[in-house]
Amino acid sequence: MTQYTDPDGMEFTANTQESADTFSTLIDAYMGFRPETGEILKALLKSDPEMPMALCAKGYFAKLIGSASHSQRAVGISEELANHIDVVDANPRERLHAQALSQWCQGQLDTATDIWEQILLSWPMDGMAVRLSHFTHFYSGDGRRTRDSIARVLPQWPTDHRNYGFLLGMYGFGLEEAGEYVQAEHYARMAVDRNQKDSWSIHAAAHVMEMTGRHAEGIRWIAELQPHWSTVNNFRFHLYWHQCLFHIERGEFDAVLSIYDEQIVSDIESEFYLDICNASSLLWRLEMCGIDIGDRWRKLACVSNGHVNDTELVFVSLHYLMALVSGGHEEGTQRMMKTLRQWSTADSTQGKIIAQVGLNIAEGLLHFRRKEYVQAMDKIQAVRYSMDSIGGSKAQRDVFQMIMLDAAQSSGDVMKARALFTDRVSHKDTSSWSWQGYSQALLSLGQEALANEAARKAGIIRGVGKVGISNA
Ligand SMILES: [Fe+2]
Repeated sequence: MTQYTDPDGMEFTANTQESADTFSTLIDAYMGFRPETGEILKALLKSDPEMPMALCAKGYFAKLIGSASHSQRAVGISEELANHIDVVDANPRERLHAQALSQWCQGQLDTATDIWEQILLSWPMDGMAVRLSHFTHFYSGDGRRTRDSIARVLPQWPTDHRNYGFLLGMYGFGLEEAGEYVQAEHYARMAVDRNQKDSWSIHAAAHVMEMTGRHAEGIRWIAELQPHWSTVNNFRFHLYWHQCLFHIERGEFDAVLSIYDEQIVSDIESEFYLDICNASSLLWRLEMCGIDIGDRWRKLACVSNGHVNDTELVFVSLHYLMALVSGGHEEGTQRMMKTLRQWSTADSTQGKIIAQVGLNIAEGLLHFRRKEYVQAMDKIQAVRYSMDSIGGSKAQRDVFQMIMLDAAQSSGDVMKARALFTDRVSHKDTSSWSWQGYSQALLSLGQEALANEAARKAGIIRGVGKVGISNA
């Protein structure tokens, strides 16, 4: 095989120049979450089955699906690649990618991330390394890592590069997760101005609106751009999820249930991990708002039962568990708990997180559904300040904080409930659910005037959708 250079100056070991160019097209599609990404890779592997980066991408994409079966497939691909790399005399960047895939397959997500960062030192325009490290930094739960990883490479990309906008949006998202909302929105909007189909960047701005309580604006933002982002892969359902969060805060529960049925679960049988996360999180939130969700958990539990052996991401497995335990799937719940306990003994990046944080949350969920609210509250409260490490976004992880608060409220420990809701509204003062819960806690202690004031604030958020309660 020979070295060919793509339009960005990346060298590829391949059989033809066309293969290198096609790989570049693959990265464009991957960055844009375009549904044809898989087809582009399939065609590339057909025309150039020995191309190391094509094989590596196949392994990466299998890992990104996040299920045990795909993960097993990735192990086989990684082994094939390791055997193949000397035979075809792969270049140093490709060898690093092969190592990263191997580490990822062995559960060493931190090491894989370090390798992608190492690649970016010498090849800052390696789109695959940029996007994958963004993904794994995100699942480290540390917004600063997500932010800084993109900050390091952004100046190395020509501003007129066709994918430069995607980087702007990734940077925006990292800034948002690091709590720098003004800058985050600035970058996200710049990205969307360049490309209205850039769903990750639309999403980054939606996160800012969520964190700053701009619920009505968030609904408009997502709805107005919907004709553009609705053509992307299943990530589009996550944008619908964000739209639902805004509706929940406004008390528009019928809208949430419609979006849930028509969109969120419309492809729930897919193997894509995020679909169940969106659905589980929404159903639990709706129930915490007192909404009758019918038998919707049952279907989710059934799908989740196919993932009880997955050991990819703690964040994701907890969402499968939410569905299993809520849907009354006792056998699946027990098998999942067994998996989580075994996983917590593994010497892997996520295994350590299950041991440190994940098991507590999992046991808290079980206690909650058994109506053992004191135990549920205690289990989750013990890890509430270290919960970030399970990854996902701040908005996504918030459901576990909410469950802790709901458990406190239901436990009858009114002093604890008041204390927890008091700290909640002090840092999440744009949430009607939080003010409503605070109001209830105050009322149980006979603090009627304060309870009425808290209820009034909840009403303002629901009715007007714009806050002005404090400086958030
Ligand atoms: Fe999100």
